[in-house]
Formats: sequence, structure tokens, C-alpha cells
Amino acid sequence: MRHPDAAVAAPDLLRMKRRGERIAMLTAYDFTMARHLDRAGVDVLLVGDSLGMVVLGQANTLGVTLDAMLHHTTAVSRAVSRALVVADMPFLTCHTGVPDAIRAAGRLLSEAGARAVKVEGAFQVLEVVQRLGEAGIPVMGHIGLTPQSIHRLGGFRKQARSPEEARKLVESARALEAAGAFAVVLESIPSKVAAEVTDALEIPTIGIGAGPHCDGQVLVSHDAFGLYDEFTPPFVKRFANLGDQLAAAARDYVLEVREGEFPSTPAASLARRSAD
Ligand code: KIV
Repeated sequence: MRHPDAAVAAPDLLRMKRRGERIAMLTAYDFTMARHLDRAGVDVLLVGDSLGMVVLGQANTLGVTLDAMLHHTTAVSRAVSRALVVADMPFLTCHTGVPDAIRAAGRLLSEAGARAVKVEGAFQVLEVVQRLGEAGIPVMGHIGLTPQSIHRLGGFRKQARSPEEARKLVESARALEAAGAFAVVLESIPSKVAAEVTDALEIPTIGIGAGPHCDGQVLVSHDAFGLYDEFTPPFVKRFANLGDQLAAAARDYVLEVREGEFPSTPAASLARRSAD
């Protein structure tokens, strides 16, 4: 049996599914946040291209570059001792040929310290998924709502709502498994369809807006902890309101600086200490 503090590797997720252990995954983009999340016992830290929206203030994920992913993945990898660090393959890096995809994914592992990559899509990236696996690069798939295709999908909408779309989604998941993916993210699909995919696959499914029947769950940390308020998907549960706490702390700081309370003079702090 694996020690609870041992580093999580891609094949461990399959073992977790077989043992019926749920997988907890969150996003991280910087050293400090990643360190807190790793210490909390999160199994998988995704350096998602949601980076573009929740850290860089972009309207969607399409503008996230490989350089940005390398930069942020390096910071996250430095912080982590247990979680599996997965880096997103940014927009188009899987669509200009297998060698380009292998080069980009290889840099995320060898330069930035990721231990797996995540690829959006299914049939259009199957060869890439297979060849990355053959090159020793574990691949997590991502189907359903794939944010890099929002212009084709017509926005951030729930997917696989018709029986025909649901059937295609199950086929996509099976194809990714056959191509060697070690797990697959299911985003914004009906929970019934997610349950069907989860039953159909040996590899684990990790849901976001896909209901309770997946083998694991992922959320964007800035949504889950109340740091990003531009847009909150309806399925998000707020586990904290760090944005409000941060703003209140910053207001206290501003007040204390303006009123000369911080930093306190040596005499004032001496008086405070003797009063304690
Ligand atoms: O970029 C991201 O954060 C993601 C998650 C929503 C799964 O892909």
C-alpha cells in the first residue's frame, strides 16, 4: 500500500479508482498557493490554462502561451512534494503536428517539472495522445466542454445533452483510453452521462460540473476559494471567501498606514507590550 505522503504518480490514479478512492484535484499557478494545496493533501495539481482568465485577466484561455505555462508550471513544481503536477497543453500546441506536440510537452516535463500533461479534445488529438505516451509523457484527456474550443462550441455551455452527443462523448472517452490516456477530465456534462463514461472506462474520470459519479473532482482554485469573481460557473461550490478576507485585510492595512498606526514607533510598541 502507498504511504499517504508518497509522491502521487500517474499510474496511482488508476490504482485509486480500483480501490474506490476518490481523487481530489485543484488548479494551482504559483509557488505559494501550490505549497498550501500540496500540504492540504490535494492529489493532483493542475496548472490549467484557466491561468489566462483567473491570473492574467484574459477573457478566455486562448491567449495562454507555452512560455506562460512553462513559467507557472516551474513555480508550482518547485513547491510540491506529494501532488501529481499536470500542465495544460496550451491552445494549438497539439494541432500543428506530433513533433511540435512532443517538443512542447517535453519542455513542460523536462524544463518546468510537470509529471504529466493535459490535452483537450479526443479524435483530433488521438495520435498526439498515443505518441506522447510512447515518448514517456503521461497524458490526461479532457472532453465535454473544452474551453479552447469555445468559439466552435458557442460559449461556455453544457455539452452532451442529446442522446447522440452523449453517445459521441462515451466513444471519445473510450478512444482516449485506448490511445493511452491515464485519466480523463469530464467538464460540464449531465451527471448521467458522466456516470456512463465512468462505468465504461478503466481509467479514472475527473469531473468538473459533471455530477457526483466521477472517480474524482476538479475545481479552479480561484473559484473554489472565492478569489475570482468575474464569472463563477453554476456548479462551483465556494469553500472559502478569500477575496473578501484579502480585501478586508488590505483595508485594515491602508487605514493603519494612513493613521500612522503601522509601523508603530518603538515607544508605542513598548507601551503595548508592557500593557499585555
Ligand atoms: O484550465 C483548467 O483549469 C482546466 C480545468 C477547468 C479542468 O482545464
